[in-house]
Amino acid sequence: MKAIFMGLGYIGLPTAAVAASKGIQVVGVDVNPEVVETINQGKIHIVEPELDKVVKKVVENGLLKASLKPEEGDAFLIVVPTPFKQNHRADISYVESATRMVIPYLREGNLFVVESTSPVMTTEKMSQIIFKERPELKDKIYIAYCPERVLPGNVLYELEHNDRVIGGLNPESSEKAVTFYAQFVKGQLHKTTARTAEMCKLTENSSRDAQIAFANELSIICDKAGINVWELIELANKHPRVNILQPGSGVGGHCIAVDPWFIVSDFPEQAQIIKRARETNDYKADWCANKTLEACEQFAIETGREPIVACMGLAFKPDIDDLRESPAKYITSRIISEARGEVLVVEPNVETHKTFNLINYKEAYDKADIVVWLVRHKEFLNIPINNNKIELDFCGVRK
Ligand SMILES: NC(=O)c1ccc[n+]([C@@H]2O[C@H](COP(=O)([O-])OP(=O)(O)OC[C@H]3O[C@@H](n4cnc5c(N)ncnc54)[C@H](O)[C@@H]3O)[C@@H](O)[C@H]2O)c1
Repeated sequence: MKAIFMGLGYIGLPTAAVAASKGIQVVGVDVNPEVVETINQGKIHIVEPELDKVVKKVVENGLLKASLKPEEGDAFLIVVPTPFKQNHRADISYVESATRMVIPYLREGNLFVVESTSPVMTTEKMSQIIFKERPELKDKIYIAYCPERVLPGNVLYELEHNDRVIGGLNPESSEKAVTFYAQFVKGQLHKTTARTAEMCKLTENSSRDAQIAFANELSIICDKAGINVWELIELANKHPRVNILQPGSGVGGHCIAVDPWFIVSDFPEQAQIIKRARETNDYKADWCANKTLEACEQFAIETGREPIVACMGLAFKPDIDDLRESPAKYITSRIISEARGEVLVVEPNVETHKTFNLINYKEAYDKADIVVWLVRHKEFLNIPINNNKIELDFCGVRK
């Protein structure tokens, strides 16, 4: 069995490496030459616990090879980005371009799977593109959609143990894809249609978004009412059938902050709560920035000088280096451009950044007048409280 993975990012690389570790011959394709070079040296370009060891092993034993170009194989998996455009519509151009790259290499009996999070009917669109170019392959290849639902930071475990939803364009395609994934997934493989599988991924993330929006809305209400939101949620969750999530500085990342828009843009009349949740979570980031700027103004009035502000964390969630769609990054940018005093920027999981001048978190805490907790990174939990600082805790570091 030989599998070609198109895209070697946060999802594609771990999946390719895990498949290779189970004996599948894997060619990982990426359009970024640095990524290809790094992986072929047995190294990795992303932060993910234990992944470096797996990649080193499978590259050394020849089961994983990275390349700029696809080649013939048995299974082709599309794991490229699906961002959104200005109008919040999904940008499936990467999926389309990766599909077009593999078309010349497809043979009868091959399996073609889209893993990228995609709007409903994307798999059908890709099949039309394939059959337009290669009409002789109609009914001769298997096409399915199989979304990924791993948690960054725990990807290797979840890749193997999470259940997967597999939606073929026909039952034979679902069956073929199940056989492929069963080689490296121990979780259950649930067969459905491609459309349902596409919608399932979007639904999972929209559900998380709506639940976080509820917590974020509560945090804003509690701030107004003078109630500690962390205590409130802990107490409400004592109810046997209540399970409120934790508020934060917004919602970020490539998935939860993006995918609900794929439903809203296709179903604008129907998707009312999903849209409102997205707006609430985006608003929370602005609210945090406004709160910080108000605290800066108050400090300046009381002391006659501008405060030094430390923005603690840039990642979109704790203990990862991923800054995509990060509310913490957005809040930090707003504070840098709107506050008058010095702004210190901290992200312990990133060494250098092209926009932000990063400094050590302890040094930042010591120097700052106002400390803004934006991400609940584990390093921050051990910093002793200094009562001379003003702390704004948007993510429960001090809860
Ligand atoms: N990161 C997550 O936690 C997560 C979880 C579930 C689902 N997803 C979905 O998985 C998909 C991939 O996400 P990711 O986080 O791995 O993205 P990523 O940006 O980390 O990686 C994508 C890789 O694809 C490469 N690429 C782009 N166009 C290409 C092409 N035509 N051919 C080959 N390679 C190409 C890029 O250079 C990049 O290295 C997205 O649809 C995302 O929504 C991500």
